[in-house]
Amino acid sequence: MTINDLAGTPPNPEAAISVRGLVKRFGTFTAVDGIDFDVPRGQIFGFLGPNGSGKTTTIRMLTGTSGPNAGQALVLGEDVINHPERVKQRFGYMSQKFALFEDMTVEENLRFYAGVYDLSAEQFAKQRAYVLDMADLRGRENELTANLSVGWRQRLALGTATIHEPELLFLDEPTGGVDPVARRQFWDLLYDLASRGVTLFVTTHYMDEASHCNQLAFIYRGRLIAEGVPHDIRRDLIAEQVLEVSVRDVDGALAWLEQAPGVEEAYLSGARLHAVIEPGASGDVVGDYTARLRTAGFADASLVAVEPTLEDVFVNLVARAQES
Ligand SMILES: Nc1ncnc2c1ncn2[C@@H]1O[C@H](COP(=O)(O)OP(=O)(O)OP(=O)(O)O)[C@@H](O)[C@H]1O
Ligand SMILES: [Mg+2]
Repeated sequence: MTINDLAGTPPNPEAAISVRGLVKRFGTFTAVDGIDFDVPRGQIFGFLGPNGSGKTTTIRMLTGTSGPNAGQALVLGEDVINHPERVKQRFGYMSQKFALFEDMTVEENLRFYAGVYDLSAEQFAKQRAYVLDMADLRGRENELTANLSVGWRQRLALGTATIHEPELLFLDEPTGGVDPVARRQFWDLLYDLASRGVTLFVTTHYMDEASHCNQLAFIYRGRLIAEGVPHDIRRDLIAEQVLEVSVRDVDGALAWLEQAPGVEEAYLSGARLHAVIEPGASGDVVGDYTARLRTAGFADASLVAVEPTLEDVFVNLVARAQES
């Protein structure tokens, strides 16, 4: 997985988004540290990274909201840094913190965004109908946005971000704080947009959502540390075996695994532990570590080999990035 193939090449005007050497500093702190990537048109592109890694800062540069200190960015073939006005009507942005006016009704929010994008009365009527159906908000047009549950609000925010039928949509942690059922429904809406050719640039913390994307980029401390399709990322980056450990004394077993020979990483995964075994381990690895844990005093430990999840990949990538 080579992530710097694009560095030094000219940005690609055919891509939905093409970024070269993008840098953003706040004082002496570098929040985005020279990133290069292309997002092909029509894709769902997942931009993943822990808190503070530079996701929102990147989106703000790509939407012309904040100017970079260096680098180039083409959005839908246009230079968004120097001429954001050329492309602003063609993309939508559902921001992480602010997307809706809480003290306005559903209808008023829709009208506000229609005004921002200068929709004609005819376009507004058509898109209003589309959004109310899509977000399942018919009959609630006059409700205050603050009174909607988080899931409804999220769908209304998606509606306002798409009211001008954009070709490209930036979604910054769109499902944060939403329950799993509402998240699933929200993703169905995203799939529907993608099936109609809209390119989606999505940031998320949820690893299951990463699996819904066509392509992923991982950002850590302002740098891209991996890029590719979810399947390849899983296969290429963890050739190692991952063991899942069920044990009563989770903390004790974690401390033991962290210093055990042959264990590359160990961490909590839900109520269990995951241990990444160093490459080259052969024989009955599961049996071997089960015996070792039991000998070490964790008599109830039971182990199985599991398929690496994207979360495993991510933890491993971050650990490697910290070592280098
Ligand atoms: N206006 C600003 N002034 C100073 N520092 C900033 C500013 N905006 C962001 N930062 C810093 O830049 C880094 C990246 O922030 P950013 O918001 O892009 O992270 P993020 O990946 O979106 O995180 P999260 O997952 O929490 O939303 C953080 O350390 C943040 O504190
Ligand atoms: Mg953010």
